[in-house]
Amino acid sequence: MLDPVRFITNLSTGEMGYAVAREARRRGFEVTLISGPTPLLPPKGIRFIPTVTVEDLKRALGKHFFANDALVMAAAVGDFLPNTRASKKVLRQPRWKVTFRQAPDLVRGIAQRKGKRVVIGFSLETEDWLPRSRRKLKAKQLDGIVANYFSSRHNPFGKGRVHVALIDSGGTRILRRRSKSELAREILNWVIALVRSRQI
Ligand code: C5P
Repeated sequence: MLDPVRFITNLSTGEMGYAVAREARRRGFEVTLISGPTPLLPPKGIRFIPTVTVEDLKRALGKHFFANDALVMAAAVGDFLPNTRASKKVLRQPRWKVTFRQAPDLVRGIAQRKGKRVVIGFSLETEDWLPRSRRKLKAKQLDGIVANYFSSRHNPFGKGRVHVALIDSGGTRILRRRSKSELAREILNWVIALVRSRQI
């Protein structure tokens, strides 16, 4: 938040995270959905934790992660935090200089302490989507990453069908033209297999 009514954010509709939460609930799991602001209705039968800022999300993750077997981190966490936060609305003026600092990498921080829990991240790239996503899998100590790309012909935001790659230490699986609910089913199958393999 820059002031009570202005903010900077990464783009996200929430569709993917909500689809994963609904699918996990449909299969009978206990689900906690930590969500940023979206117009979507929280699915019934789950614990719903609304958040606004990166700080809120960090707190909610720290509170709920350790009671769960898996985290699917579809959140488009803001990459930059403003260094100033005015308590009153900033008046219109010809220039307003604001500086930003890098936001903490939440999934990387939590994955370092995951133990046997499974942590899946997401990535969105405009170029070199597969090599960059593979590097993130390692750098963030994830068990899996859902790689998305964005181009003039492929926009993964919202309700449309997407091409993605599911990447883990065993390799890369490309999935084409999946709806978000189909993708949520595949992600759940994958998470369940990873949880089982880590608990042996
Ligand atoms: O590095 P990049 O933002 O592309 O990585 C994406 C993954 O990292 C996503 O799973 C996202 O939720 C997570 N992330 C995070 N904290 C940040 C930035 C990204 O947890 N500050």
